[in-house]
Amino acid sequence: MKRSSTRVAQLAALTILLSWIAVSSVASSESEAPLQVGYYSRTCPRAEDLVRNVVRAAIRRDPGNGPGLVRLFFHDCFVRGCDASVLLDAAPGSNASTVEKASQANNPSLRGFSVINRAKRVLERRCRRTVSCADIVAFAARDACGILGGIDFAMPAGRRDGRVSNASEVLNNLPGPFTNVQLLVASFAAKNLTADDMVILSGAHSFGRSHCSAFSFRLYPQIAEDMNATYGRYLRTRCPAATGRRDRVVDLDQRTELLLDNQYYKNVQTREVLFTSDVTLLSQNDTAALVDLYARNRTLWASRFASAMVKMGHLDVLTGTQGEIRKFCNRVN
Ligand code: HEM
Ligand SMILES: *[C@@H]1O[C@H](CO)[C@@H](O)[C@H](O)[C@H]1NC(C)=O
Ligand SMILES: *[C@@H]1O[C@H](CO)[C@@H](O)[C@H](O)[C@H]1NC(C)=O
Ligand SMILES: *[C@@H]1O[C@H](CO)[C@@H](O)[C@H](O)[C@H]1NC(C)=O
Ligand SMILES: *[C@@H]1O[C@H](CO)[C@@H](O)[C@H](O)[C@H]1NC(C)=O
Ligand SMILES: *[C@@H]1O[C@H](CO)[C@@H](O)[C@H](O)[C@H]1NC(C)=O
Ligand SMILES: *[C@@H]1O[C@H](CO)[C@@H](O)[C@H](O)[C@H]1NC(C)=O
Repeated sequence: MKRSSTRVAQLAALTILLSWIAVSSVASSESEAPLQVGYYSRTCPRAEDLVRNVVRAAIRRDPGNGPGLVRLFFHDCFVRGCDASVLLDAAPGSNASTVEKASQANNPSLRGFSVINRAKRVLERRCRRTVSCADIVAFAARDACGILGGIDFAMPAGRRDGRVSNASEVLNNLPGPFTNVQLLVASFAAKNLTADDMVILSGAHSFGRSHCSAFSFRLYPQIAEDMNATYGRYLRTRCPAATGRRDRVVDLDQRTELLLDNQYYKNVQTREVLFTSDVTLLSQNDTAALVDLYARNRTLWASRFASAMVKMGHLDVLTGTQGEIRKFCNRVN
């Protein structure tokens, strides 16, 4: 008994030593300090609680804020890294359509900006110029996953805010709804994310909405062959061919539209998904096998989704003395 517990203690010490070596070798191979869990624990101990309270209230008011914030994080991180560039308005007097948020991938569909601004106001009152907008976006996305999916995880922080936002960088970096699996894998690989990460993160299409204009190419002039025909006929009733003045919206997951869960993968399997970029996961056997795995095991998917969100949150971050801590999230200091 005594011997084995000593053994356990030795093993634990060895494990800690090995993981320290692994962590420090990763850290030393990067030029900047890595992000840290609890980054604001001394400078603004309540930062994460305050963000969570704002997000919780916003979701109570309009549940769509939850998926909106998760997508905002993705669109921030894939374009110039997780630096809150997606939040910037054009400088006064300059052309409004030159910033990321004006790109057709973001405007008018991206939402959650006012939630981030509200959280920033609260944080500026409590801890002036301390918490970056990029970290607020990351915390808010994480909180939305907890509130609407029961997926709770630690989000490392220490990101700083960028000073540049360029609309022409958006469509080169964010895949569109018509993208096939080969191109999806490539566009995630360009961000050092694997095909598995791509399949896992696509599970975010288990909540929220889409505008009809993003997928009506799969409904007219005929229902796409790779769309479930019953589902396609239903979607035609929601998205008339003549779009008229109004671009209507449809739930991404018609079964559990306000729950972040693994229903998405079941929808992919029955081809009841809106985008080519969803159903295309079936057209390669490695990604199809992953769809099957996550359709069968929600727990496994949820834990991998949490890790993939954290991984995405490290994309091209500004740290240390790079960038700035904005005073207002929609403009540079
Ligand atoms: C794999 C490539 C992806 C493509 C092509 C894609 C495309 C889209 C499109 C076209 C919409 C509809 C927007 C609208 O018209 O309102 C949408 C919504 C959404 N996407 Fe993605 N997406 C992808 C990956 C992701 C990832 C990685 C995440 C997050 C981890 C994500 C999260 C969401 C969420 C939550 C919504 C709903 C937004 C809302 O309700 O406001 N997507 N996506
Ligand atoms: C603003 O920029 C967009 C895209 O770069 C361009 O198409 C448009 O003509 C510009 N508008 C003005 C008023 O300069
Ligand atoms: C914006 O990005 C495009 C495409 O990468 C680049 O050609 C252009 O010079 C950039 N504009 C500014 C103002 O940096
Ligand atoms: C991906 O990894 C390579 C090699 O480690 C690195 O040079 C590159 O900057 C990384 N790209 C991103 C977007 O993180
Ligand atoms: C279409 O959806 C229905 C309802 O979920 C399902 O029973 C059927 O198998 C689906 N068809 C195909 C081709 O996946
Ligand atoms: C993919 O599926 C095809 C046909 O079922 C099979 O011949 C091939 O070996 C599979 N490829 C991989 C990488 O599993
Ligand atoms: C689901 O995945 C978890 C690991 O996250 C594993 O412990 C469990 O056995 C799996 N369940 C099934 C039914 O395969």
